[in-house]
Amino acid sequence: MLVLGIETSCDETGIALYHTKRGLLSHALYSQTEMHGEYGGVVPELASRDHIRRVLPLIRQTFAAAGLDLRDLDAIAYTRGPGLAGALLVGASIAAALGFALRIPVLGIHHLEGHLLSPLLSTPAPVFPFVALLVSGGHTQLMEVSGLGQYTLLGETVDDAAGEAFDKTAKLLGLGYPGGPALSKLADEFSSSGQQERFRLPRPMLHSGDLNFSFSGLKTAVLTLINKHEITEKTRGSIALAFQEAVVDVLTEKSLAALAETGLTQLVVAGGVGANRQLRRSLCHNAEKIGATVFFPELEFCTDNGAMIAFAGAMRLQSPGALDRKPDDTF
Ligand code: KG4
Ligand code: ZN
Repeated sequence: MLVLGIETSCDETGIALYHTKRGLLSHALYSQTEMHGEYGGVVPELASRDHIRRVLPLIRQTFAAAGLDLRDLDAIAYTRGPGLAGALLVGASIAAALGFALRIPVLGIHHLEGHLLSPLLSTPAPVFPFVALLVSGGHTQLMEVSGLGQYTLLGETVDDAAGEAFDKTAKLLGLGYPGGPALSKLADEFSSSGQQERFRLPRPMLHSGDLNFSFSGLKTAVLTLINKHEITEKTRGSIALAFQEAVVDVLTEKSLAALAETGLTQLVVAGGVGANRQLRRSLCHNAEKIGATVFFPELEFCTDNGAMIAFAGAMRLQSPGALDRKPDDTF
């Protein structure tokens, strides 16, 4: 079965072709980051308009790269939400139109399910059941994943998502948009420069006794540091490192607690913050100590992409009753 995946939930147009026997055949991504950078954040209206401009050329490009034709398609999967309404509508409309013209099934995929299953695109892949840490710009959740569609929420953020906290803190440090990767780079450079003068920030909710998170206080703690110190390159690096260490420590501790609570030994990390090198190092190091294994998506599939949607669509379409949903379930 050949499935076309379409992702347009925010500021990335992602297209991919996944074959249930041959795997991922091709994928293409257009990021609108530069356009939104000028405004310091995603402008929803501009995002929708740009998806319209990009989506058909990217679909053509993806088919050409795989040496395939639209008529080879068996099904279409698109991101049905959550995300920006106008942006989502572009993907949903293109999927519906193509499905109608080609007379093939069209399936809406939950964006977070796409992220959650993305590590299954790599080898070695985790096998059900596992614990998933979903850390993106909009979500921070720990889930117990027993099988496809069998997801139990173990804990989540009570305020900002981890990626959102990275982005807001980066903005406070004058690092532009999107700040997460820039902040992380600055923190890593400061850490490897061997500088001694370090700040330390609190670890919010580390001992809350549950698997929930809170990151908005860290941003305020950073603001207090900024107001107290002269902001030189050195203090900026030190603050970035202190922030990253605090977030990574909390994410690591709570993920290990989720493994202990469920008795599972596989941890899957997904979402944009999963690209963070310090988080990857910390999770691997600490999981190894308790005999657990950590699985990450390929770096290019950590942030939004079409491959995870095509893959989730293919998995869903292979399971019984996939297309028996009510119409209002599809968006
Ligand atoms: O999953 P994603 O592409 O989009 C959402 O569904 O939200 O995640 C984007 C988020 C942004 O907040 C971005 O700053 C963050 O992931 N991010 C990072 C890194 N790369 C992306 N945060 C920390 N370190 C990184 N290396
Ligand atoms: Zn995402």
